[in-house]
Amino acid sequence: MNSLTTDQTTRNEHATSQGAHVVRVIMLGPPGAGKGTQAVRLASAYDVPHISTGDIFRTNVKDQTELGTKARQYMDAGELVPDEVVIGMIQDRLAEPDATGFILDGFPRTVPQAQALEEMLVDLERPIDVVLRLAVDESEIVSRLTGRRTCRNCGAIYHMDNSPPGQEGVCDRCGGELYQRDDDEEGVVLNRLDVYHRQTEPLEFFYWQRGLLRDVQAVGGVDDITKRALDVIAEYEEPVSGTDGSA
Ligand code: AP5
Ligand code: MG
Ligand code: ZN
Repeated sequence: MNSLTTDQTTRNEHATSQGAHVVRVIMLGPPGAGKGTQAVRLASAYDVPHISTGDIFRTNVKDQTELGTKARQYMDAGELVPDEVVIGMIQDRLAEPDATGFILDGFPRTVPQAQALEEMLVDLERPIDVVLRLAVDESEIVSRLTGRRTCRNCGAIYHMDNSPPGQEGVCDRCGGELYQRDDDEEGVVLNRLDVYHRQTEPLEFFYWQRGLLRDVQAVGGVDDITKRALDVIAEYEEPVSGTDGSA
């Protein structure tokens, strides 16, 4: 997992030699495609925030906030939280000063969410560079999700067989407790897949029409997939204006 360091160094050198780069990327793909796994690595390579609506909801559920209470009933059933709740939450997050660039994971998930995002980013003058569609067979998804373990404290993602922690039940990164997400029970996983096909898949056409959609094969080694994604993003990244004058 850690051989990313090489890639990351190369990217950072690249960024420094040509002026700082900021990227704005959307991760699209069914539950279990590896959006979270890859988004963390891409965000670290480009030094931009990883913004995951699922993670924000899970933190709110853990902290028993009003938002968490509202979201929980939908999450446990594998249904989507209503658009107006998610859109308001993302609007607040994108207004924070660190969100010049970002890797968006789990948002947008419906056409109204994508339209709202488009409007927000026009206002902020921060257009999306590319939408990465992580492609993986449905047969693989159920075993990925039923074997997933997540850190209760920092959200790090593991898999009992594919990427187990050094010590069972303990997060390598922060020592937190690993748990199984309530929505990773097989029945809920199947409903999440169904919801994805009905409500999120139309976004593929939405972004294809805008010339932003790119496929990344999401099967095989995690490092290989990261490299594929970084290669695609590199085709779109733009130097921050004013830092090097060449663009
Ligand atoms: P969210 O948390 O976004 O869940 P999801 O989209 O269902 O996606 P997952 O997190 O399950 O999968 P992933 O693609 O991130 O895969 P991961 O990297 O973990 O949303 C949860 C809920 O919140 C929703 O159901 C909804 O209720 C609500 N919500 C969130 N956003 C919303 C929105 N915008 N609108 C409305 N509601 C919203 O990987 C999965 C497993 O596979 C891991 O165990 C991992 O270790 C393993 N793995 C990863 N890569 C590989 C590989 N290459 N080979 C083998 N195993 C691998
Ligand atoms: Mg995720
Ligand atoms: Zn942790």
